[in-house]
Amino acid sequence: MKVLVVGSGGREHAICSQFSKSPKIDKIYCAPGNGGISQVAEITNISASDFNKLTDFVKKNKIDFTFVGPETPLSSGIVDYFEAEGLKIIGPSRNAARLESSKIYSKEFMRKYDIPTAHYNSFTDINDALKFLESWEENKKVVVKADGLAAGKGVYMCNGRRDAQNAVKQMMNDRVLGDAGTSVIIEENIDGPELSYLIFTDGISYSVMPASQDHKRINDNDQGPNTGGMGAYAPAPLATDELNKKVEDIIRKVINGIKVEKLDYKGVLYVGIIVNDSSPYVLEFNCRFGDPETQAVLPLLNTDLTDVCSAILNRKLSSVRISWKREFSVCVVLASGGYPGNFKKGFEIKGIENINDENTVVFHAGTKLENGKFITSGGRVLGITSTAADVKSAINKVYSSVKLVSFKEMYYRKDIAWRALNGKQN
Ligand code: GLY
Repeated sequence: MKVLVVGSGGREHAICSQFSKSPKIDKIYCAPGNGGISQVAEITNISASDFNKLTDFVKKNKIDFTFVGPETPLSSGIVDYFEAEGLKIIGPSRNAARLESSKIYSKEFMRKYDIPTAHYNSFTDINDALKFLESWEENKKVVVKADGLAAGKGVYMCNGRRDAQNAVKQMMNDRVLGDAGTSVIIEENIDGPELSYLIFTDGISYSVMPASQDHKRINDNDQGPNTGGMGAYAPAPLATDELNKKVEDIIRKVINGIKVEKLDYKGVLYVGIIVNDSSPYVLEFNCRFGDPETQAVLPLLNTDLTDVCSAILNRKLSSVRISWKREFSVCVVLASGGYPGNFKKGFEIKGIENINDENTVVFHAGTKLENGKFITSGGRVLGITSTAADVKSAINKVYSSVKLVSFKEMYYRKDIAWRALNGKQN
């Protein structure tokens, strides 16, 4: 079979790598990919948003199915476009992708299907939003969320009324997030550690992957601004059997809602959970694999990803027993100095070839291949993942490999998976 993976980050590299292990896959294409992905896939310089060129490419190369990584093409209807052309594709339809692309839709869905989540109000008019906040306590935490997709920048954690009023003005008046902030949600803050539950689903049944934890802040001890994710690990010990049962109750309600609403959902659903007082609450849905959670989770997959995809496409996911290695996986992201603010690109990456461990893999996120050398081309540059029988060994192994790699102004967190080690979960 031939497969096309759409996207260009570390997540897509991890997806391509997983397909490269499948005896059923003869050829992997990636659009637009990156320097490192070109080691496992043929990359083509077609943008993830150019559906016309992508479908032409798939037809010309007789590609059997397409797997979509990022949310933007999904929310713009890539699945509907491909299916209208008679092509097989893994991902939710545009309508179903609203679970991620509209926070208001997603919260209404949660309310309708009795899914535990923070109390909220939604606003399309700035005056209504500001009026609502007038009665909010001066120092009570509150969350302001942009309705639309905002590349991870759409959630403002506010320390009280004034902070929240400023957030509303920035989004709805100053339009700092463009159209994404035309409508907003104002919701109660829930404190607690977060977990990412990724599930494969064909819209009828589902299979839960090992729960993982992302590290969103740039600095150790979860300090500094938010990023796209500085590392992840799986399975997270916080996800005890007891918690997993409660989360499965939630997931069953979500799948039931997807069926009742007749949402065409094939692919991966990301259920972002916050745990407060031993109870899980849904923070968000994403309609795709997480990044960098995928780089930690997929190396643990035993089952052939092609079999999982075929079952999803045939809506027979329940017929596949998906199994996972009983190991721990830790992914550390190497970023350009200055990220998530301004950073320089174009530095040569040295030392990847010195990593010589069969349980360690380097996923490229922001790299270009120039004259046989890898060059930095983004904020997050690489994600290095190691797996081992216990989390401490996985941490030691991954940081030994990280030390072999260098590029000018390289930055990484030194404490990925620390929660798993010291039992402190938040
Ligand atoms: N790691 C967060 C996300 O993929 O949205």
